[in-house]
Amino acid sequence: MFDLNCTACPRLSDFLIEVREKYADYHARPVPPVGVKNPKLLIVGLAPGLHGANATGRPFTGDHAGIILYEMLYKHGFSNKDTSTDLKDGLKLKYCRITNAVKCLPPENKPIGDEINTCNSYLVEELKVIDKKAVILCLGLISHKAVIKALGLKQSDYPFKHGGNYSLDDGRAIIDSYHCSRYNTNTKRLTEAMFNKIFIQVKAQLKL
Ligand code: URA
Repeated sequence: MFDLNCTACPRLSDFLIEVREKYADYHARPVPPVGVKNPKLLIVGLAPGLHGANATGRPFTGDHAGIILYEMLYKHGFSNKDTSTDLKDGLKLKYCRITNAVKCLPPENKPIGDEINTCNSYLVEELKVIDKKAVILCLGLISHKAVIKALGLKQSDYPFKHGGNYSLDDGRAIIDSYHCSRYNTNTKRLTEAMFNKIFIQVKAQLKL
């Protein structure tokens, strides 16, 4: 179960104490998943950004990466609005839930291996309650690996590939995308057209 007071990773909880001192009005705690309880689509990001999800308390909200993500969710019928700015903005996700592989803000946006592994127990629980035919959309290599680990699968059987689509034995599917980070979108590693195609793939898989 998600724990707002989790201090399992000493480096991250110490860092959050510093961040709370500096930015008193920031959420600056583990960021809970957002969206419906039994989603058809579970989106797994990496970790909250300092002035984004870490500040607002909602994944990808206030982060540059969230701009294109929430636009796509709206465009493809997974939400009631195309922006996510704060907890009181009236956003409602449909069929969809968004979480992060690492729930706490990591220094320099880089969680270390131990932190990704420790936080994996939350992902294990989150993956248990998704729809039987759900799609798990992994944003980037780290989230992909975290999902494979949380599902108890062998990493070498499931290499990360942008646009890759793995059907799992239990009826669920994993779809991979490059992360929609500022760096990836600025360098055009991930264009809007590419990300749009991923959502078309997701909807085709879900028969929506
Ligand atoms: N904000 C999040 O919540 N997750 C990411 O992966 C990036 C930004």
